[in-house]
Amino acid sequence: MAILITGGAGFIGSHTAVELISAKKNIIIIDNLCNSNIQSVENIRKITGVDFPFYKADCCCDADLEKIFEENEIQTVIHFAGFKAVGESTQKPLKYYKNNLKSTLSLCEVMKKFGCSHLVFSSSATVYGAPKTVPIKEDFPTSTTNPYGTTKLMIENILKDICKADPKFSVACLRYFNPIGAHKTGIIGEMPNGIPNNLMPYITQVAAGKLKILSVFGNDYETHDGTGVRDYIHVVDLAKGHLSALKYIKNHSGFETFNLGTGTGYSVLDILKTFERVNNIKIPYKITKRRPGDIAICYADPTKSKKLLNWKALLSLEDMCCDSWNFAKKAIAGK
Ligand code: NAD
Ligand code: UFG
Repeated sequence: MAILITGGAGFIGSHTAVELISAKKNIIIIDNLCNSNIQSVENIRKITGVDFPFYKADCCCDADLEKIFEENEIQTVIHFAGFKAVGESTQKPLKYYKNNLKSTLSLCEVMKKFGCSHLVFSSSATVYGAPKTVPIKEDFPTSTTNPYGTTKLMIENILKDICKADPKFSVACLRYFNPIGAHKTGIIGEMPNGIPNNLMPYITQVAAGKLKILSVFGNDYETHDGTGVRDYIHVVDLAKGHLSALKYIKNHSGFETFNLGTGTGYSVLDILKTFERVNNIKIPYKITKRRPGDIAICYADPTKSKKLLNWKALLSLEDMCCDSWNFAKKAIAGK
């Protein structure tokens, strides 16, 4: 029996693959490598010393998925595959609706056909829109401000309906907050194409001298230092949350949402200063105007995940900053 990881060559998928293999699970990865590369699959093998089947294939293709289910005995799926760039989704909404929805619909259809009814889905804190209060609990109202977020919310609703219609189905819908960091070995991590949109990859590229200066988007928010506050979570903690979710869906049916965050909010300047301190590198920055669509504060209440999944984040902000740079300095600067 194996666990199929869609998008397993990507940032979160590759770290989850390592944790699953370390927990002695059999895994299979499907990824079309549209936002990753084959080296990432090799790196999972390198870290774990374990080989596993990899299919370079598209989750939107029913025939490709059927072939994988025919060739393997798949018990559970963890569905990471999808596009994730908020800004691009506002420019190219069709690209996002097509890939994120079609891949999930095809996957669920093929799962049903092969009698596989256990799924862990990658959702996002973006489905909370602009929350009225923090910390955010799973039963807070949902809303979205961009097509990417809307795809996540639409998929959540589709999965809810599938669970209602089929009592065998069990879905853990994990709402990630802000994953950063990298594997301790520095062999896998986050390496976005082009100029990064997200804070930590931008900081590491400035640290490596690839970009000149970090723009801090606004210092007039109602936060402790005026800059935006987020719930940054180490990607390895996040990956371990998937192991806990796998245990949960084995013993439960139906649709359940879980926040995967630390429960602590840090500002842009907190991140910047901690990165500088633990890595002993100066990051030049300037304050610029707010980025459209950004909210002031977003952090999780992770109580439900602690109670039902028996999971909580353990790694510190120092670990996140240190591990992000340990990966990036090799990957970007070759140091
Ligand atoms: P990523 O882009 O690094 O990984 C996604 C992987 O999916 C890539 O390897 C890509 O090649 C693959 N992929 C995309 N479409 C595919 C398709 N149709 N068929 C096969 N493979 C396909 O992204 P990530 O940061 O690892 O995110 C994983 C999931 O978590 C995504 O669904 C994302 O929306 C969600 N998420 C990410 C964040 C974040 O900040 N990184 C936050 C919340 C939610
Ligand atoms: N920021 C800067 N400068 C930058 C990049 C970001 O100041 O160059 C600031 C932002 O204004 C924000 C904070 O850093 O205050 C974090 O921004 P990110 O872009 O890293 O992350 P977001 O919280 O905007 O969004 C991320 C993902 C979304 C996901 C969301 C919640 O990009 O897909 O977390 O999980 F939905």
